[in-house]
Amino acid sequence: MIVPIKRDKVVLAYSGGLDTSVAIRWLKERYNLDVIALNVDVGNERDFSAVRQKALDIGAVKALVEDAKELLVKYFIFPALQADALYEGQYPLATALSRPLMAKLLVDTALKEGASAVAHGCTGKGNDQVRFEVSISALAPSLKIIAPAREWGMTREETINYAQRYGIPVPVTAASPYSIDENLWGRSIECGVLEDPWVEPPADVFVWTKSPDKAPDEPGYVEIGFEQGIPITIDGQEMDGVSLIQRLNQLAGEHGVGRIDHLENRLVGIKSREIYEAPAATVLLQAHQALEAMTLAKAQLRFKQKVAVEYADLIYNGLWFSQLNRDLSAYILSSQRYVTGTVRIKLLKGHSTVVGRKSPKSLYNYGLATYDKGDQFDQSASPGFIHIWGLPARTQAQAQGISSLEEKVV
Ligand code: ARG
Repeated sequence: MIVPIKRDKVVLAYSGGLDTSVAIRWLKERYNLDVIALNVDVGNERDFSAVRQKALDIGAVKALVEDAKELLVKYFIFPALQADALYEGQYPLATALSRPLMAKLLVDTALKEGASAVAHGCTGKGNDQVRFEVSISALAPSLKIIAPAREWGMTREETINYAQRYGIPVPVTAASPYSIDENLWGRSIECGVLEDPWVEPPADVFVWTKSPDKAPDEPGYVEIGFEQGIPITIDGQEMDGVSLIQRLNQLAGEHGVGRIDHLENRLVGIKSREIYEAPAATVLLQAHQALEAMTLAKAQLRFKQKVAVEYADLIYNGLWFSQLNRDLSAYILSSQRYVTGTVRIKLLKGHSTVVGRKSPKSLYNYGLATYDKGDQFDQSASPGFIHIWGLPARTQAQAQGISSLEEKVV
């Protein structure tokens, strides 16, 4: 009787692109592993049955597709929105947010399928290898991690040759000079002419956003309703998170809103030029902050801005599965108690502007703010306030003098 030799299994995060397609074959050759391809749907428009079939054709023993859009929105995107997380003040963190979720699904699949290893298609130069591997090792320290594209040392051309040699279909996108990653929260474009930071991104870089100069001349208006920092309505209509983000991507993209050109500091020490399209993220982050400006006290806002920077760094740097995340999340969630209300946004030729906000928990007090009749602010109390507020400045000026205007100019 011939006893079939049971081979070890590896679960590969499979995108259907060139690198991960070649990786299916390469993992078999190099490590003698059976490959289970796991394709995670995070909102990148794609024919997933074709992607599945492709993995099987190349030689995967199993090909799984997991719809993770709801998980991405509920556990990653909305918490990042509540935090106002924007890396270096520019990048809404789409890719960075999807990696820990993919890592979690890889680990779950590996445990379920009895695989001894997991693999991802990242190179050795980027942030994503760090995010995958830190997350995987925190969740399942015993799993072996393989990074074929970091190990095989092939140039892009050599990878294409490898694919052709083994009859692996080279996707049309491999002909594109760009490296692209996308999910509901945004689209990222790197490489090609973009590597020259002086070169304006050519039109073919953009897919989700109209060029601002070709966008409609008439402004579009959208009203976003939030409850405790979570967007739940568009123009009064309740929507689930996934549909709401998709709708805003389309609406704001139509007006050319959400293009970002960022010279970014990678975790691995490289400065890289990144182009992003993030229409929904841009509008939602703006609207959310506008509502916080109305419902949080000055001191809360000041402190929360610092937390936002920390939280964005944590996400960017691959530390999602950490106790620090738990701690910061507890604060962020608590801060959102009264962040409920509606924000009105105007979309016009690449710009989104907050033009209105209202909240049942608003701290804006008309009686205190108005210059018209009905003014309730006691102006006679101001001299006393100024007297005490200015006390240290006066005292110091008398003791130490004040610098001349010229002194501060070099
Ligand atoms: N620079 C971004 C990040 O580190 C995006 C990377 C996405 N990859 C790509 N091939 N465009 O999160």
